[in-house]
Amino acid sequence: MIVLGIESSAHTFGVGIVSDEPPHILADVRFVYKPKTGGIHPKEASQYFVSNASEALRKALSDAGVRISDLDGVAVALGPGIGPCLRVGATLARAIASYYSKPLAPVNHALAHIEIGRLLFSFRNPLVVYLSGGNTLIASFSEGRYRIFGETLDIPLGNFLDTLAREAGIAPPYVVSGLHQIDRCAEEGGRFVELPYVVKGQDVSFSGLLTAALKLIKESRARLNDVCYSAREIAYSAIVEVSERALAHTGNKEVLVVGGVASSPVLRRKFEVMSSLRGVKLGVVPPQYAVDNGVMIAWAGVLLLKHGIQVKPEEAFVKQRWKLDQVDVPWLP
Ligand code: FE2
Repeated sequence: MIVLGIESSAHTFGVGIVSDEPPHILADVRFVYKPKTGGIHPKEASQYFVSNASEALRKALSDAGVRISDLDGVAVALGPGIGPCLRVGATLARAIASYYSKPLAPVNHALAHIEIGRLLFSFRNPLVVYLSGGNTLIASFSEGRYRIFGETLDIPLGNFLDTLAREAGIAPPYVVSGLHQIDRCAEEGGRFVELPYVVKGQDVSFSGLLTAALKLIKESRARLNDVCYSAREIAYSAIVEVSERALAHTGNKEVLVVGGVASSPVLRRKFEVMSSLRGVKLGVVPPQYAVDNGVMIAWAGVLLLKHGIQVKPEEAFVKQRWKLDQVDVPWLP
């Protein structure tokens, strides 16, 4: 089976093509929108996607050495994500599916992050820790779906790190050689300053931490490096704490860390310590596939289509708030 996947939920317009048996990547094309200032501007990002969509498709087909007629299906991320961005990918996918009469797989973006990670590590049933600019959640499979065992009550971890970097004047917050600017800044710090650590039940919260950290910086009451160090220690520790408690409850024997923030080597070390103490396997998706890409959408498309899940092009609407626990996962026991 050869499936083409389209990702456009946030800053990346990606087109991936994969085949299965054995799983194989035939093409992985990405166009990444980088805002000149601030976070993602939905209109600007979607215009950037529109300008590059046809080139991304052309290049993916050429890299894979296939024609659209060779495809067994098309997959598209329909949510969660930013509406105007999602609609660009959805429009392209609907057009291909209806013009060429190809099955169309509706992919939940979070599920795609998980499934590419499961494939990479050959994990059977992991506890999932999904950390990105737009999402922060802990999930585990049970009775047909991934169930949420904790999430952020306000801003996601990636958004927290990016905003802190930007407001502290060490933007752009983009990861430089594998390190987020906050991790980089924290390397020169080491004196712990008091900041709010908020874990409520199984949920985390970063907005109070962000406000307090920025206040310290603004009032010059602590060195920037020490604030970055303390803030990231608190944020990462909160994530590891709720992950460990979820593991104790679910009994999963594997932990899979997915999403753009998964690439932090500092966070990874914390997960390594926790996993070895609990005697569970750890899989941290490498940066190349931890960030958004079309390959993961194509792979999720393979799984969906193999299990007969498809959508009519005229009914393939984007769902900006499509939650992971609303998606049936028939391929897991
Ligand atoms: Fe993502």
